[in-house]
Amino acid sequence: MNPPYCVTLGDVQEAHRQIQGFLHPTPVMTSSSLDALAARKLFFKCELLQKTGSFKIRGALNAVKSLPLDTCTAVVTHSSGNHGQALALAAQIMGIPAHVVVPTIAAQCKKSAILGYGALIVNCEPSDKSRAEVAAKTVQKTGGVLIHPNQDPAVIAGQGTIGLEVLQQVPGLEALVIPVGGGGMLAGIAVAVKAIKPDIKVYAAEPLNADDCYRSKMNGILNPNLHSPITIADGVRTSIGPNTWPIIRDLVDDVFVVTEDEIKSATRLIWERMKLMIEPTAGLGLATILSSRFQEETKDIQIIGVVLCGGNVDLSSIDWLKEQLSQSSS
Ligand SMILES: Cc1ncc(COP(=O)(O)O)c(C=O)c1O
Repeated sequence: MNPPYCVTLGDVQEAHRQIQGFLHPTPVMTSSSLDALAARKLFFKCELLQKTGSFKIRGALNAVKSLPLDTCTAVVTHSSGNHGQALALAAQIMGIPAHVVVPTIAAQCKKSAILGYGALIVNCEPSDKSRAEVAAKTVQKTGGVLIHPNQDPAVIAGQGTIGLEVLQQVPGLEALVIPVGGGGMLAGIAVAVKAIKPDIKVYAAEPLNADDCYRSKMNGILNPNLHSPITIADGVRTSIGPNTWPIIRDLVDDVFVVTEDEIKSATRLIWERMKLMIEPTAGLGLATILSSRFQEETKDIQIIGVVLCGGNVDLSSIDWLKEQLSQSSS
């Protein structure tokens, strides 16, 4: 019997009822050339095609819809970008102001989009501590409600709706590979799919440079990153937290870490083979599946779902691609 978690299958199902009318039913796509490389059948859930360009609108909208809107004057969050955009749109849909705390190093395209959805940006340093401090001050100043990007139960339930959809779209799935930052998406999906289909495997995909989830699972204790991680996968430059950890500890089968080069190669493969403009964070799933440990240890699993979690690529920052191209041609 699992201990009570902050989110149940019922919460995820209710979130789906609340948000589905506002969002895109994102497609699942396949690629025979990537299947051949992976030696498995892969099903890519295309959250890059979701409103705001990532899955984050699911959790943000569910959280804003859960607020008492007669007394709530504003919403506040801290986000490396995608949750900020999502909360901005969710607040706009529900007709309340949003204040978004963003690290100074966040991709310019993400900041512009937050502003484009009508939210106000408040700058902070690129560390979890600075984000939390500036967000707390902003709450005090505005009287708004803080919507945490990955520990708020309504956010986790909203992200879990990906799991409900993908199981309907591909009923035969044997495993899902899900990128992890704060773990909202991973925990929400894990709660949903393990309740519906207990024998499905749930695997987390994480950059080696931001390996708090991997270390936490290895040690059986929550082990946040000590410093702000340096990784091209900018959506996951954060750590799992107190609400997502118990779910990840109990329901996630394994965590795989991948190098920066593996993330870049996988991102490029999806661009080239699938013609899908994912952001590097969304390359984590394929990078994991192609990694040697995954290939060695999961040979019996043939039908795998991969969450392509976002497509907000900062086109002005893809210098790394030139390097990749010259490496692969030499
Ligand atoms: C595109 C993308 N993928 C994955 C994540 C990680 O999500 P979570 O923090 O819920 O683990 C984020 C978080 O911002 C993201 O923007």
